Amino acid sequence: MQRTYLMVKPDGVQRGLIGEIVARFERKGFQLVGAKLMQVTREQAEFHYEEHKEKAFFGELVDFITSGPVFGMVWQGDDVIALSRLMMGKTNVMDSQPGTIRGDFAAHTPKNLIHGSDSPESAEREIGNFFKPEELLGYDKAINRWI
Ligand code: TYD
Ligand code: MG
Repeated sequence: MQRTYLMVKPDGVQRGLIGEIVARFERKGFQLVGAKLMQVTREQAEFHYEEHKEKAFFGELVDFITSGPVFGMVWQGDDVIALSRLMMGKTNVMDSQPGTIRGDFAAHTPKNLIHGSDSPESAEREIGNFFKPEELLGYDKAINRWI
């Protein structure tokens, strides 16, 4: 069983897409174990996007993710990291297929609505950057027997 960090970015919050995005992961059968609306600090943003520190777009990325509230979530399920990335669609909106979150709703690349961890290691550090252990709730869900 894996966990991942998913985040509706400021553009998704402003556009009223939190519910749409949450619904997709619920319907897929993943389990929500933590969620909150929050203002990301510059320190958290720089840590979150550390892998892109040397890139030309780093400054804009940090400005964007701190520009308004985000909706941070931790989801759990078998292969949730890879499967949620499939559901998100590709980074570049020109490559994100219809049927994916970005393919259906995003039209400009940096404003691509959602973040998702890309490996178990990044999931662990991203979850730790935004959530305290006691904010994550392990609970039984009967549906887990059916998916
Ligand atoms: P990245 O981690 O490569 O993509 P993803 O969000 O799909 O994991 O990049 C992080 C964000 O940085 C991406 O969502 C949008 C932005 N970005 C750019 O603005 N320009 C770029 O060339 C890339 C690669 C990313
Ligand atoms: Mg990434």
